[in-house]
Amino acid sequence: MPETTWWKRGIVYQIYPRSFQDSNGDGIGDLNGIRQRLDYLAWLGVHAIWISPIYTSPMADFGYDVADYCGIDPLFGTLEHFERLVAEAHARGLKVILDFVPNHTSDQHPWFKESRSSRTNPKRDWYIWRDAKPDGSPPNNWISNFGGPAWAWDEATGQYYYHAFLKEQPDLNWRNAEVRKAMYDALRFWLDRGVDGFRVDVIWHLIKDAEFRDNPPNPAFQANQAEINRFIQVYSADQPEVHEVVSEMRRVLEEYRERVLIGEIYLPLERLVTYYGKDLSGAHLPFNFQLIQTAWNARTIAALINEYEAALPEGGWPNWVLGNHDQPRIGARIGPQQARVAAMLLLTLRGTPTMYYGDEIGIGKVEIPPEAAQDPWERNEPGLGLGRDPERTPMHWDGSAQGGFTSGEPWLPLDPQFRSSHVEGLRNDLDSILTLYRRLIELRRQHLALSVGGYTQVTAEGDVLAYERQHGPERFLVALNLGHEPHTLPLPYGTRGRVMLSTLSGRSEESVGPQVVLQADEGLIIALEV
Ligand code: NOJ
Repeated sequence: MPETTWWKRGIVYQIYPRSFQDSNGDGIGDLNGIRQRLDYLAWLGVHAIWISPIYTSPMADFGYDVADYCGIDPLFGTLEHFERLVAEAHARGLKVILDFVPNHTSDQHPWFKESRSSRTNPKRDWYIWRDAKPDGSPPNNWISNFGGPAWAWDEATGQYYYHAFLKEQPDLNWRNAEVRKAMYDALRFWLDRGVDGFRVDVIWHLIKDAEFRDNPPNPAFQANQAEINRFIQVYSADQPEVHEVVSEMRRVLEEYRERVLIGEIYLPLERLVTYYGKDLSGAHLPFNFQLIQTAWNARTIAALINEYEAALPEGGWPNWVLGNHDQPRIGARIGPQQARVAAMLLLTLRGTPTMYYGDEIGIGKVEIPPEAAQDPWERNEPGLGLGRDPERTPMHWDGSAQGGFTSGEPWLPLDPQFRSSHVEGLRNDLDSILTLYRRLIELRRQHLALSVGGYTQVTAEGDVLAYERQHGPERFLVALNLGHEPHTLPLPYGTRGRVMLSTLSGRSEESVGPQVVLQADEGLIIALEV
């Protein structure tokens, strides 16, 4: 794939559809709502949208429990609405990436209903059914990612079924060839409708140990952690045979032109990069969540960039993610000033960045009162701070009631700051985080050095992280102050340069060198003289 491939140069923007734009007043975002906001996305300058699941679903896990892989849930609209969205996105040069949830279905999926109807049903083996131990307990010690045992007892047929997430999300048996075929056909259904790629949910979970061995205990487990951490997930995920499945999915996408396969993978670096597959036959972009999981500190971040770059297989394309619908927002984690520095980091690293809706307007920490909690994980394991509602609150479009998100009651409360911090206001404010995002995107689009160019670390001392990006004759220095004190930084080789963009206001076009003063919490992009 050449450097010009859209998913290498482009920026992916994740939309959590329930929270982006409601068009029918039911308090839940929908496809027509997204369509109404395409002009905004084109204005912002992103290249692709990834939409979290919109398929038919009882919504036990807000769409990650699919009851029909080829249907649109009425909450979000219809297939016709979807087709119109794709057509209008494409007309604006925006690609559309869907979420594909192959590890599990809803327990309301007709396949599961058949599977649980009898032990001899032809679809019995489509799911993972096991006998109880002689004492009646579950077949092994595997824990659900949302807490509690991962095995649910089925009274009618006298066996347990496995669910890595909610009991309403039974895991499919990906060792079964018919399951694979049915799921690949579902991919083709959407590819035939012009979808440009998929983000594949928990792709590293698809194959489990053939012998269903117990996971070993985790000696580092602490009582305030999610229960899943009690054991190390040695046998329940990341099995060698999963790579065969990933490359089969990739081959389905290759029946079409320039489609992208993104894998959701939470694994240590050395395991993560195996998902590029043998000879790059796996995922184009195994999601890299390192920035989400790392302390906000120059030295640690520099080390992880170097480790990631070094771990990439030959020809493997890097990617970076700062937030998603499962993780505390970046603004909540590091505060509003550093969230601006983080935006500069995300959009100047080598590889494909994925932005999360709302980060560009600086949504920060939103408190969700316990009675408003929606996330099933929060309900299963309350009080540990695991709930994902705070990062799923509605987008703020204007200063009207409910921020222009809905004319009804929003399904989750909005960030109380919505009246002063919304797209309409921020887009005309030259100093806003939204303007910063837009200018970063614009610069990245204008200069290949910032997207596909080479990366060289310059310094990672104290609070300052600085690196160079270069392509052809262009050289940029990105200097990020991750702390709250000013710092003086010498420019590499004593050169001079011109400030292209600061995360603070009023510095562009300033000529600097042979050193530059970085203000507290400031990030700079400097075009170096060559
Ligand atoms: C990962 C998704 O991102 C998350 O939201 C979901 O709950 C689980 N997979 C289960 O599908």
